[in-house]
Amino acid sequence: MKNAEARFLPEKSLTEELMAAMRRIKTFGITYPRGYHRNLAGKYLKKGVRYPHILTIIGKPRINHHFFYSSALTRTGRLLDYGCGTGDNVRQLIRDGFPREQITAFDINRESIDLGFDLYRDREEIADLFVVSGTFPFGPEEFDTVYSASVIHVIADEKEFRNYCANACSALRPGGILFGSTLGIHEGAARPPGTRGPPRIMTKEQLAGSLTGTGFSSPEIVRREGVPGYVPESENLCVLEFCTKKQASC
Ligand SMILES: C[S@@+](CC[C@H](N)C(=O)[O-])C[C@H]1O[C@@H](n2cnc3c(N)ncnc32)[C@H](O)[C@@H]1O
Repeated sequence: MKNAEARFLPEKSLTEELMAAMRRIKTFGITYPRGYHRNLAGKYLKKGVRYPHILTIIGKPRINHHFFYSSALTRTGRLLDYGCGTGDNVRQLIRDGFPREQITAFDINRESIDLGFDLYRDREEIADLFVVSGTFPFGPEEFDTVYSASVIHVIADEKEFRNYCANACSALRPGGILFGSTLGIHEGAARPPGTRGPPRIMTKEQLAGSLTGTGFSSPEIVRREGVPGYVPESENLCVLEFCTKKQASC
């Protein structure tokens, strides 16, 4: 990809972001052979990274900061990470003792998953947890918990967004839990024209309306201020952490 570097914030480059990601991931005990960074930089300078922001956050899992996380860890049954990206959050669940055999990580594209394998060097150990498909491959009521992190805000298309929420609902058993996070704005704050960043930034009320409109009960939504990587263009952004229960049917 010709402009692989240009898609990063002006003061950052892909090679520097890769190095920073490797430094973060080393703290989880991952080691790299000599020359690994150079080879990886060569690979990704050529092919680019689909979501450059992901490279700046890989190795900083967020699931464990979610207000529902300690409860999620004690849940029984299967958990789906819906729009798993690099798989950072799945690895955190495993580190924290969630039963590996109960975890499925799904995404509509493979690039970020492969970036995760390249950086964590664990393809052989956990590739079996990941499912990639252009269409949602799971049947009704297969999961007890669905996790959705930073997916809603990347879905521009209204129909795709409705399908995403409907799939999350359908895949859950009645009473199952959907929790996760998405970028939001404060009530009444319009997104400034020309703001860089993801296409779907919702208010708390809009998010609540979309979830209840799909078949979820009244969600608990918590605002987290200060979104690293999205300043200064968009200082009115926040992260909306949500948790909601599937009603009897959707
Ligand atoms: C910004 S990344 C977040 C990845 C990961 N959840 C995380 O927290 O790091 C958004 C991910 O959502 C995936 N995605 C977008 N639309 C999707 C859809 N309709 N169904 C499943 N995954 C989707 C993208 O492929 C991408 O990997």
